Amino acid sequence: MADIFERLLKNAGPLGQHRERAHGYFAFPKLEGNIANRMIFRGKEMIIWSLNNYLGLANHPEVRKADADGAKEFGLALPMGARMMSGNSNNHEQLEEELAAFVMKEDCALFNYGYQGMVSLIDVLCGRHDVIVYDGESHACIIDGLRLHPGHRFVFKHNDMDDFEKQLQRASNLIEKQKSGGILVITEGVFGMAGDQGKLKEIVALKDKYEFRLLVDDAHGFGTLGATGAGAGEEQGVQDKIDLYFSTFAKSMASIGAFIAGDKKIIDYIRYNIRSQIFAKSLPMALVIGNLKRLELLRTRPELKDKLWENALKLQKGLKERGFDIGKTDSVVTPVYMKGGLEEATAMVMDIRENYYIFCSIVVYPVIPKGNIIYRLIPTAVHTDEDILKTLEAFSATKKKLDAGEYQADDIPDMAEVAAKRFDYMMDKPRNK
Ligand SMILES: Cc1ncc(COP(=O)(O)O)c(C=O)c1O
Repeated sequence: MADIFERLLKNAGPLGQHRERAHGYFAFPKLEGNIANRMIFRGKEMIIWSLNNYLGLANHPEVRKADADGAKEFGLALPMGARMMSGNSNNHEQLEEELAAFVMKEDCALFNYGYQGMVSLIDVLCGRHDVIVYDGESHACIIDGLRLHPGHRFVFKHNDMDDFEKQLQRASNLIEKQKSGGILVITEGVFGMAGDQGKLKEIVALKDKYEFRLLVDDAHGFGTLGATGAGAGEEQGVQDKIDLYFSTFAKSMASIGAFIAGDKKIIDYIRYNIRSQIFAKSLPMALVIGNLKRLELLRTRPELKDKLWENALKLQKGLKERGFDIGKTDSVVTPVYMKGGLEEATAMVMDIRENYYIFCSIVVYPVIPKGNIIYRLIPTAVHTDEDILKTLEAFSATKKKLDAGEYQADDIPDMAEVAAKRFDYMMDKPRNK
């Protein structure tokens, strides 16, 4: 018989295998100071491009005051119990009503987290005869929700409408054969890695030909897209054709929690049946109070979204002018695609952090194919022109070094001398052999 723990220690996982050298630097870095365009990383002030604080609400004075007032008045315990049992409040219901109005739906239900909410949502919506058709680059919360689905699922190639229709046809044929079940299509408003919007307009156009319901995870579009900030559906003119509109509060609202919005009867069904909320304590009141304030700012301060877009477009234009490949983004998410191995990618990021004081995230194999590097920049409304210029200059300088092979190395550099020491106890042999 295998010892489960022994197996875990032998294979630490795709990212865990690098933990000894990455901890505290690439993995689990600590950003200190107020959430802003500049923060402290390992004692140095850096320009931060890694936070989904799109509208700059995280440290907005009115938000900070609402958070503090909410915590002072209600503490973190209230309300106790699940919403259904003892954890409901007027504030929770008010937030649901205001959110529903903001995203132009009849009703809305709160979730404690986006990830957990989506997993449970897929579970509550579909039975074993239903078929789910979903985009191949869907977020982990959708993929993990599918694990709970007892019926069939068909994946379509990312944003490929020919393949989408092919999978829809397969799903329709299967349902006809089964003589029961329906189709749920799941996609995203904005794909968080590449920044391209889901093809919502094209997807809903097929509603004339096929019968299905559409669920959209608009984590990155909510508050950043559309004339009023109602998201990718509004941006593409099809908000009314989205049957279920989902977002987290973790991005433009810079908070915790999530919601699902749609027709009243369906939201009521979800409210009374979704296991992640029925069997969990309700969202703390202080968060609800803070989220009401954030939503008010989304509604009443369009200049925040305008500033976000001004910064995003300056950054994207600057990168393109300097010859960088930023792919197909049509949102504020700004990926920068480069070629290189893991060793080069890590050396380059160290250089960009340590010598140019730019903090951004990188994505490498196994998340993307070997030999590719993606730098992911998240502009916000609180970045300045100086931040953008310094970043563009740093990218140009480090790209030159990358192309000249200056970052080539046989091994991943040791990035976390100090922080990694905490892992010594796991290792049989001393580090830095
Ligand atoms: C597309 C998408 N869905 C869901 C989530 C999860 O939301 P939460 O952080 O509230 O769990 C995220 C990211 O956090 C996301 O990017």
